Amino acid sequence: MYLVNRTIIVASNNEHKIREIQEILNSFTIKKASDVAEKFEVEEDGETFCENAYLKAKALSIYTNDIVLADDSGLEVFSLNNEPGIYSSRYSKEQTDEANLEKLLKNLKGIKDRRARFSCCMVAVFADNVIQKEGYVYGKIIDEPIGKNGFGYDPVFVPEGYDITFAQMDAETKNSISHRKNALEKIKEALEVML
Ligand code: IMP
Repeated sequence: MYLVNRTIIVASNNEHKIREIQEILNSFTIKKASDVAEKFEVEEDGETFCENAYLKAKALSIYTNDIVLADDSGLEVFSLNNEPGIYSSRYSKEQTDEANLEKLLKNLKGIKDRRARFSCCMVAVFADNVIQKEGYVYGKIIDEPIGKNGFGYDPVFVPEGYDITFAQMDAETKNSISHRKNALEKIKEALEVML
């Protein structure tokens, strides 16, 4: 199949995410969810990142004939059975970044194996086609939060090959090695084959 349409609707209204996607998918016109659907809500009740990303993409695709792109991501800590995983944003009762992080460090207390990864699944849906790509960044979880940048679990995640956390990095450096970037590059490759 050849793509004649070069517009991609991202199933998010997060300006940060939209900009990051526009920078990588630079031969496409990128629009946000609210450009095609006034109110767009989905119950993310899948069991994997890819299932949740697909649910989001599919839900938005009913409003447009353009390509729809959705992602779902989170932190997987190997010694915790890949927790928090798809529950990353709702790990603690309070469901705030601070409380989630606190719960993670409590659960890791005394555990030596601190290896973890951020995972991202990106799904592009157009006509009857689905492209699904996963991206990762591997690293470890430190004992105490360090750094003020970023969000979520960034203050406790030190990526492989670095000795600072994601929260100590500038956005440009983080975005150049992130799980989202990794997944997006793979989506780009797959889409470009169809142009
Ligand atoms: P979302 O799928 O991008 O909405 O991410 C879900 C949750 O995973 C976030 O609320 C964070 O807790 C966590 N997460 C995903 N990506 C990152 C990241 O790059 N840094 C820190 N936390 C992240």
